[in-house]
Amino acid sequence: MPDDSLKGASEHEPREEWRSRWGFLFAAVGSAVGLGNMWRFSYLASEKGGAGFVALYLLFTVVLGLPVLLAELTIGRGARRGPIAALAHYGGDAWRWLGAVFVAAGFLILSYYGVIGGWTLRYAFEAMSIGFASDAGAHFGDVASGFDSLGTQIVFMCLTVAVVSGGIGAGIERVARIAMPALFLIMIGIAVYAARLDGSGAGYAYYLNFDLEKALTIDVAVAAAGQAFFSLSLGMGAILTFASYLPRNSHLGRETVVISFADFGVAFVAGLMIFPLIFALGMQGEISGSTIGALFVALPKAFESMGFAGRIVGGAFFVALVVGALTSAISLLEVIVSASMDAFGWARRKAALLGGAGVTLAGAWSAFRIDLLDLADSLATNLFLVGGGLGITIFVGWVMDDPVAEARVGSGGSMIHGIWRVLLRFVVPIALIFILWNSLPETWGKVRAIFWPG
Ligand code: PFF
Repeated sequence: MPDDSLKGASEHEPREEWRSRWGFLFAAVGSAVGLGNMWRFSYLASEKGGAGFVALYLLFTVVLGLPVLLAELTIGRGARRGPIAALAHYGGDAWRWLGAVFVAAGFLILSYYGVIGGWTLRYAFEAMSIGFASDAGAHFGDVASGFDSLGTQIVFMCLTVAVVSGGIGAGIERVARIAMPALFLIMIGIAVYAARLDGSGAGYAYYLNFDLEKALTIDVAVAAAGQAFFSLSLGMGAILTFASYLPRNSHLGRETVVISFADFGVAFVAGLMIFPLIFALGMQGEISGSTIGALFVALPKAFESMGFAGRIVGGAFFVALVVGALTSAISLLEVIVSASMDAFGWARRKAALLGGAGVTLAGAWSAFRIDLLDLADSLATNLFLVGGGLGITIFVGWVMDDPVAEARVGSGGSMIHGIWRVLLRFVVPIALIFILWNSLPETWGKVRAIFWPG
């Protein structure tokens, strides 16, 4: 295989590495756990009918997500490069384009993710200083689009750039080791608090009562598959990039299980805190016919109606959201940074600054128009992530020489690897093609509604 892809900085300096296994795990879980688990998951679960969506999402996480997760870990650790160079390493130069699509996807996702990250920062600060606005809907309307939104997006992106500039061990790993345990504790605390509120039962019922008929629609399946990829940070090389800083003796199968269970666990607990809170405080009207803003309207209303306790619980909730958003944004930026360090030989700091500035500029559209943010999210998830997942599946299933041998390094052989190969060759690609195809009408509908309305 051609190995001329080592250019620039990585040729001269030894590659950075995680300081410890836990550091990598916290960072990878930090990438997976984010706005996807709280904002996106809860708004889709309510829009797509609750428990049926949740069940399909779990199914897709196991059947489609896990194999792709192990595939990304295998390529990244084996190639020890960013996504473009890693694919070229195993597949030859013709595969660079897939890596380039990954970087473009990272760019697109971070462009609007940073805008929402900015909202979370603002809500966290307001909870701790002035409290929640009495008219939550109007407040969200004021701050979610326009110069306010641009301002908070810029602050959020500056934080992201600062952490990524610090590097793998001293920046990303250090932040993730503190941030992730803090996030887990806050979430469990709020879920326990919500369970003790009168009337929370209706929230659990809505969230957990499984209705097969509602789940069995193409629309719900498309959304659940997209969410499985988004939530696990799959289909755009983020996990691949983090794995490229792993030592060779790491146990990829074990890491796959830990990352995916932690991610699903956090999404599940997020539902256990959000729905009981909303139902106990009678705010369910705010989330039915759910929109992107549901979390930023219904919950602040609930917190506001709780008086002082609401400021504490609400403040903690939004701090957890900031933490989740930041550790995910870091991984999105790292994809862009490591690819440009490989390709142009840039120093990390330069790559982080230029990448961050470019992303922020591109995201200004989303900061000014929520319908563009929604469109970017649909395009990124349903097209780029599901399509990128398909690309990785085909690459590892059919192009890469002996992926099973590479995946086994550090863990020894097991039957699971054989099953993994079969899933990657047949089951996952067929399912993803079906999902991708069926997602096109909705995505196209959104493009038309914005660019050719009427
Ligand atoms: N997994 C993140 C979340 O759930 O919020 C979002 C994300 C991060 C998607 C990194 C893709 C990615 F590469």
